[in-house]
Amino acid sequence: MLKIEENVSLKKYNTFGIDIQTKKFYALSSSESLKEVLIENKGIPLRILGGGSNLLFTKNFQGLTLQIATKGIEIIKKTSEKALVEVQAGENWHEFVLWSLSNNLGGIENLALIPGSVGAAPIQNIGAYGVELKSVFHSCKAFEITTRKIHNFSNDECQFGYRDSVFKKKLKGKFIILSVCFTLQQFPHSINISYGAIHSQLANKIATIQNIAEAVISIRLSKLPNPKQIGNSGSFFKNPIITLNNFKKLQQLFPKIPQYPSKEGFVKIPAGWIIESLGFKGMREGDAGVHEKQALVLVNYGTASGNEILALSNKIQKAALDKFGISLETEVNIL
Ligand code: EPU
Repeated sequence: MLKIEENVSLKKYNTFGIDIQTKKFYALSSSESLKEVLIENKGIPLRILGGGSNLLFTKNFQGLTLQIATKGIEIIKKTSEKALVEVQAGENWHEFVLWSLSNNLGGIENLALIPGSVGAAPIQNIGAYGVELKSVFHSCKAFEITTRKIHNFSNDECQFGYRDSVFKKKLKGKFIILSVCFTLQQFPHSINISYGAIHSQLANKIATIQNIAEAVISIRLSKLPNPKQIGNSGSFFKNPIITLNNFKKLQQLFPKIPQYPSKEGFVKIPAGWIIESLGFKGMREGDAGVHEKQALVLVNYGTASGNEILALSNKIQKAALDKFGISLETEVNIL
């Protein structure tokens, strides 16, 4: 018998801490029961939830929320150089990073402390400090909701881009990721310390994967609010990509505007700089606010509703368009 709960608050299942209700709720601890749950709830709107760390709830949901809670990490294949590791979708991402460090497997140390689940990681190709998930992603198993069949997706088939994949585009809402396979390095050759802050944080220490993870953890703790203390979903907006021509025009008006390299003919602008320049950093409207140390992160100080956070986001987007002519696209999913 499946234990499907009714009228459940999702407050503890989203890192923004928004108190909305779902009509039905089921925590999936074994992918074997997936077919049964879907058959039993056929015709009812379905929503898949991972770690709840990249979304903003704005209204109650009149359907079934399926929280992916499957666990397991297994080394599938090992050579003298590499290990192929399969991780179940419900594993916590940071726990997996810690597992890789204790097994001396390199490749994801720069991605330490990113909130969320392993199954959600490929959907937006998580990234930080010079590394993106796509550099270690081997393949994933995903369940097609309409046919109830399991498919394997290779790295290419996922069409990874900046905070993007096929699962956010053409296949949006069609698949449930069950597990992800990663290629990790046995004797890590390709350590990435390109990011300036990691360099300075490491100081004179040897760049082992453990030391890099430690550096990343302390940088993140110093800049980003801990969702257990202040509700948030990390970067609320993507860093906008604009044409080099537009950038040059903006540079005339705002000589200090920073840039990251992007594809040819384009540059990426840190949205955090835009938001700070607009004067929003550290501002607070009721319990909705803009983090005081990183303007890209919107926060819930306690009892803000999703709509209050959304109103603040709309205000920021309008101001960015008015002053810089730049559209800020949200990175979190607004539901
Ligand atoms: N900046 C400001 N004011 C701010 C924040 C940032 O001026 O309040 C400017 C500064 O010029 C700073 C630059 O933005 O040098 C970059 O800031 P930071 O290194 O904090 O990185 P980011 O571009 O704001 C991105 C990711 C983060 C990731 C960091 C580190 C996106 C949308 N965000 O932020 O990812 O941790 O780089 O690699 O790409 C997330 O996706 O949730 C996330 C936190």
